[in-house]
Amino acid sequence: MHRIFRPSPLHIRYGISLLLSLSVSLLLISLTTHYPSHSIGSIGKSNEIADRILLTIRTSNSCQSRLTYLLQSWLSPDFSEQRNIYLTTDRFHNQSKSTIWNAFRHVIQTDCPMTHNLYDLCCKSAHEFDLFYELHSTTRSDLQWMCRFDDDQYVNLNNLYQYISKFDSSRPYYIGRTSVSKRLRIRNDNRTYSFATYGAGVCYSQALLQLLRPHVSPKIFAKNCVSRSLPDDAYMGYLSEIVLNVSLTAINDRLHSHLQTLDNSWRTYSLADLTRMITLGFAWDRYKLDWLPIIHRLIQLVDQNQYEAADRLWLFLRDYEKAHPENLTGQYDQSCTSYKPKPNTTKSTKVKTPKIKS
Ligand SMILES: *[C@@H]1O[C@H](CO)[C@@H](O)[C@H](O)[C@H]1NC(C)=O
Ligand SMILES: *[C@@H]1O[C@H](CO)[C@@H](O)[C@H](O)[C@H]1NC(C)=O
Ligand SMILES: *[C@@H]1O[C@H](CO)[C@@H](O)[C@H](O)[C@H]1NC(C)=O
Ligand SMILES: *[C@@H]1O[C@H](CO)[C@@H](O)[C@H](O)[C@H]1NC(C)=O
Ligand SMILES: *[C@@H]1O[C@H](CO)[C@@H](O)[C@H](O)[C@H]1NC(C)=O
Repeated sequence: MHRIFRPSPLHIRYGISLLLSLSVSLLLISLTTHYPSHSIGSIGKSNEIADRILLTIRTSNSCQSRLTYLLQSWLSPDFSEQRNIYLTTDRFHNQSKSTIWNAFRHVIQTDCPMTHNLYDLCCKSAHEFDLFYELHSTTRSDLQWMCRFDDDQYVNLNNLYQYISKFDSSRPYYIGRTSVSKRLRIRNDNRTYSFATYGAGVCYSQALLQLLRPHVSPKIFAKNCVSRSLPDDAYMGYLSEIVLNVSLTAINDRLHSHLQTLDNSWRTYSLADLTRMITLGFAWDRYKLDWLPIIHRLIQLVDQNQYEAADRLWLFLRDYEKAHPENLTGQYDQSCTSYKPKPNTTKSTKVKTPKIKS
């Protein structure tokens, strides 16, 4: 079971804590002095599609430190702009007023286990769908899309809205980034399908959501996923393409996940490419989540036609890797307390447990 809570609208104030090198901070200070933050990328009232998309962001009690970066970048801390944004989490521990969960208007506790095995992922997915159906059948019959994301992504909301508004939600659409180029084969069958990686963000139209409904309830989704030995996103590909005959609308050039290291992707982009992206993924080794506010700043600069400042920041980002050739062997994702360092680190990686004041 899940429950919805609406924490008190007291906003937690987050200081701008850019944790990159001093040079990044200085560069940013010089760039940000003149422009207010959160002025762009907010949801304009005129943007109707924004009101018709349910956005879910999957997080975990052990990954709370990631949420700060979302609020410092693409997610507005303003509750009025979080109307359609729902965090889903396995648990939340709310020990005091200053918990980060209170910075979000809607938090859904799924009570799914906190690990990453097939059952848990599928359990979490089932609750994302359940949320859509519950809202749609009660207070929010105006919802026409559901897009789901992870808590380690940058989402360019304006680009998302612009892209989605081209589609007719009364027809079934399954939109995402192709996960593996090879199509998956069904066991003991000659049919194949492709699926969208959940780590890059996936959108479902209202028509497809209605078709999916009998297959994705919390009671049966996880059980069926596990019996096919598929993670949630692969199982969604199976359901869409094989069971419902709705194949993936792939937008691989504009949706990105953490699986793509910046080596392989970002450095081949131009600034224009970057600003066209709908989602960006962040690998945990060199490009940590503290890049999120920086990317957001860059996109704001472009939106505000501050091309000179944008170019300077962009060149800095592109050269960051060359300027920081240190050996990253043994690094691990410190943004979730449940992740453990890999043994045999060559460089002393001080294990800092990201802790939110509680
Ligand atoms: C979280 O804790 C605060 C302070 O104790 C309380 O006011 C608030 O209602 C709690 N929220 C939930 C969802 O329990
Ligand atoms: C599977 O293969 C058989 C034999 O080649 C063929 O008759 C059948 O149509 C195929 N089924 C599908 C769904 O492609
Ligand atoms: C599946 O969809 C395609 C195109 O949308 C259509 O041509 C085909 O007839 C459908 N197949 C089935 C079995 O409904
Ligand atoms: C990084 O460290 C590992 C382990 O010591 C070593 O095998 C590897 O060659 C190093 N890579 C670079 C690029 O220095
Ligand atoms: C890795 O671990 C083994 C066994 O504990 C140890 O002998 C070896 O020196 C370690 N290597 C490094 C690079 O720390």
